Amino acid sequence: MKKHIHIILLGPPGCGKGTQAQNLINEFGFVQLSTGDMLRAAIRKGTEIGLQAKSIIDKGELVSDEIVIGIVRERIFSKECERGYMLDGFPRTIAQATKLDQILADRNQRIDVVIRLCVPDEILIRRIAGRRFHLKSGRSYNIEFNPPKIVGKDDITGEKLVQREDDKEEIVESRLRTYHELTEPLVGYYEKQSLIKEIDGTGLPDNIYNEIKQTLVKVPN
Ligand code: AP5
Repeated sequence: MKKHIHIILLGPPGCGKGTQAQNLINEFGFVQLSTGDMLRAAIRKGTEIGLQAKSIIDKGELVSDEIVIGIVRERIFSKECERGYMLDGFPRTIAQATKLDQILADRNQRIDVVIRLCVPDEILIRRIAGRRFHLKSGRSYNIEFNPPKIVGKDDITGEKLVQREDDKEEIVESRLRTYHELTEPLVGYYEKQSLIKEIDGTGLPDNIYNEIKQTLVKVPN
């Protein structure tokens, strides 16, 4: 596999980007850059960006391109990313993708592959409705597909599991609409660059992961 790989994980809310990123971290130690996680961390810390982002995320809309490009730019050229990274949840608009290409080109870098996880909306809605988190560790469960040993409790600490505010049903509908309208056009954008690899995201997580690995092995050096 290419050593210093730059990956985009592209797909709708609940398609399994975070789940598969975790597998890649565990096996290869890749750095995951999730704009959703960065924004939620900013909200928890009460920073200026967090204050601006909260009401937008709670409505299921997109935070401004300016803000997310700023937080990604800070990280992709940091020391931890010298050996490559996976972008999870970024870019999400054509403007973000165009800017990312520019920023990378300025440093003689580029994206190597865009993994698109394909899952129909009805499955996404079920997955998101069942998702629960242990806030302190970020461990994620699913009451239907990956339940904790004890209902409502984290397996390791026994602490309470919570649902993300934007995982509530009415907000999920808005997130899906936003995805189809603003993010799905990125498929065409990256197809033109011959970077898209489509993977069926509806099977078992382990099988999907194996397909991702097979795809990454074929990425040219
Ligand atoms: P973000 O945090 O990026 O959320 P998202 O893209 O909506 O993705 P999710 O975290 O909901 O899903 P996922 O694909 O990671 O799925 P997961 O693996 O957890 O963004 C949140 C918000 O931040 C946005 O709405 C926006 O407001 C803002 N934002 C973020 N980035 C931005 C940007 N670039 N520009 C502007 N705004 C931005 O899986 C879901 C569930 O399914 C889990 O419970 C899991 O256990 C289960 N599951 C996974 N795979 C399988 C499987 N194969 N079979 C059965 N169950 C499965």
